[in-house]
Amino acid sequence: MAEFGIAAPSVKVTGGKLPTATGKALSVVALRKTYGDVVAVDEASMEIAAGEFVTFLGASGSGKTTTLMMLAGFCEPDSGTITVGDRDVTKLAPQKRNLGFVFQQYLLFPHMTVSENVAFPLTLRGVPKDEIRRRVGETLEIAGLSGFGGRRPRELSGGQQQRVALCRALVYRPPVILMDEPLGALDKKLRDQLQVEIKAIQQELGLTVIYVTHDQEEALVMSDRIAVMRNGLIEQFDTPRELFERPRTPFVADFLGAANFLPGRVEQHTDEHTLVRLDQNGSLLTARRHDLATGAAVKAAVQPGRLRACAPGDGFCAGTVEIATYVGTIVRAGVRIDGGEAPLLRLEIPAGRGPVAAERVGVTVDPGDVNLFPTEQGG
Ligand SMILES: Nc1ncnc2c1ncn2[C@@H]1O[C@H](COP(=O)(O)OP(=O)(O)OP(=O)(O)O)[C@@H](O)[C@H]1O
Ligand SMILES: [Mg+2]
Repeated sequence: MAEFGIAAPSVKVTGGKLPTATGKALSVVALRKTYGDVVAVDEASMEIAAGEFVTFLGASGSGKTTTLMMLAGFCEPDSGTITVGDRDVTKLAPQKRNLGFVFQQYLLFPHMTVSENVAFPLTLRGVPKDEIRRRVGETLEIAGLSGFGGRRPRELSGGQQQRVALCRALVYRPPVILMDEPLGALDKKLRDQLQVEIKAIQQELGLTVIYVTHDQEEALVMSDRIAVMRNGLIEQFDTPRELFERPRTPFVADFLGAANFLPGRVEQHTDEHTLVRLDQNGSLLTARRHDLATGAAVKAAVQPGRLRACAPGDGFCAGTVEIATYVGTIVRAGVRIDGGEAPLLRLEIPAGRGPVAAERVGVTVDPGDVNLFPTEQGG
């Protein structure tokens, strides 16, 4: 039974370490791709360091796969350049770029055994048989698949098949591995487990990975940096923390953290803070210092997890808890703020600290957790 189940933990990284790469792994400059009137990718530029785990995150149709396919060489850009290491590969065929791929559908050869599948890239490259056997064994062990080499793909679970696909990409040690929603077809539990495993293998082997997902949590868990994509544009390319705490646009604030947006006007600046008079109830909200004109119309963005409930009268606003949903370690609360119509203010509070439905609460936040955006900025 255990053989067919998912052994956990299955990451066994033992030696076989890649020579640690340093410097720049891949860069793109002004990469653009159109399909008729649709601008699938609009002047994307980025530099990715060796050993970095970078994720393209965006809604369906935002241009993630198109960007990855251009890097891989399966899709020709209208303009722009792609450099791997120091080599301009823009015009090179896929197999000459020396990149590994893992796709959402495992695309294993059904008639070949696991070992033959993993060996395939080496066989193609004419690597001697002994060397192939050694490297396949080593790679299967890294992915916790030792003992599965003789099976056919159909005799494996979805998660195991996806690990075989990962092995096939790892086995010829490409400097950069591209992955397009590799866990998209798996259930949540397996996805969570493989996220950790892929990350562990990436770190242990010092791999450079470019990963595509539309799942914010997956991106936050795995990535050193995330490129948030929207309508073919890279909206922001930053560390998870920066994206979360210093989103550059309302779109990023909303996409990563489902921020609350409170409309108001800049009332005054102090050395450290910017005070905003909220439209909703006329109260003053203190934000960290922003470079905005006094009187400017703004939206104050605050992540639900950064708001805290306090005694009514102690916070920047007060209201009534309308919904309080227990979700494991946190309670999600929706607070109806006093004074007019507004969407419910969403709070996430550690479970055990209330609040409960119908309770009167104040709401407070640290100024450092308040981001201000000029209202004209859209979103
Ligand atoms: N071969 C094609 N012909 C025409 N339009 C295309 C083609 N491939 C992609 N597009 C368009 O380009 C845009 C970007 O598509 P892309 O597949 O890169 O999105 P994505 O971010 O990977 O989305 P998803 O999350 O759904 O996979 C979309 O508007 C899509 O319809
Ligand atoms: Mg896609």
